[in-house]
Amino acid sequence: MANIFKSSIGKKLIMSVSGICLILFLTFHMVMNLTYVFDPDEVVYKTICEILSMGWVNVVVPVLAAFFVIHILYAFILTLGNLKARGEQRYAVSNKAKTDSWSARNMFVLGLVVLCGIALHLINFWSKMQLQNWLGGVEANPYQLMEATFGKWWVLCIYIVWFAALWFHLTHGFWSAMQTLGWNNQIWFKRWKWIGCIYVTLLILGFVVVAIYAFCKVHGCCA
Ligand code: HEM
Repeated sequence: MANIFKSSIGKKLIMSVSGICLILFLTFHMVMNLTYVFDPDEVVYKTICEILSMGWVNVVVPVLAAFFVIHILYAFILTLGNLKARGEQRYAVSNKAKTDSWSARNMFVLGLVVLCGIALHLINFWSKMQLQNWLGGVEANPYQLMEATFGKWWVLCIYIVWFAALWFHLTHGFWSAMQTLGWNNQIWFKRWKWIGCIYVTLLILGFVVVAIYAFCKVHGCCA
C-alpha cells in the first residue's frame, strides 16, 4: 500500500485528488466573495459568517492547509522526477513536450506564481481575519478589507496576474485530473476539456468581477 505513493501513478493520483479538493474550496470561496457584489445588506454574508464561526471550521482549515502542502510537495517531487528523466531521455521527452499545450508544459512555473499569490492573499486577508479570530484579536471586516486592498490599482493588477496564472493552471489541471482518475474514454476525452474550460473560466471570472467591483466602488466608477 505504501508503495503506491512512491509510484508515478500514485503521485499523480495525490496531485489530482488534492487539486480537485482545492478547486472545490476555490468554488466555495468565489461564491462567498460574490455576496460582496450581490448582497449589499450583508444578509447572506452574515449567515455564512455564522456557519464559518462553528467548531467544524477549525478542523476543515488544517485539512485544507494539508491539501495545499501535499499538492505543492508532490509538485516538487514530480517536477524533479521529470527533470531527471529528461536528462536521461532528452529526445523522447522533448518530442512529447511539443504536443502538449503551453499550460501543460508550464504547470510548475504557473504553480509558483499561484503560490506567490496565495502568500500575498494570506497576508492581505487571512492574517487580518481568521488568524485574528484564533489569536483573540479584532477581526477586520472583509468588505472594508476588499476596498482597502483592491482600491489600489497596482494591487488589483497583481491579483489579475495571479488570477490569470490560476486560470492557465486550472484549465489544464482540471482536465489532467480527470485523465489521472481514468475518466477519459473516447467520448469524455474532449468533453472534460470543454467542461473544465467553462467551469474554470466562470470560477476565475467570479474572482475578477469582485476585485474590479471593489476597485470601481472605491473610485466611484459604479453606483
Ligand atoms: C489553488 C491552488 C491550486 C489548485 C486548485 C491546483 C490544482 C491542480 C490540479 C487539478 C492539477 C492536476 C492534477 C493531475 O494532473 O492529475 C494540478 C497539477 C499540478 N499542480 Fe497544481 N494547483 C494549485 C496550486 C499549485 C501550486 C502552488 C503548485 C506548485 C508550486 C502547483 C503545481 C502543480 C504541478 C507541477 C502540477 C502538474 C503535475 C503533473 O502532472 O506532473 N499547483 N494542480
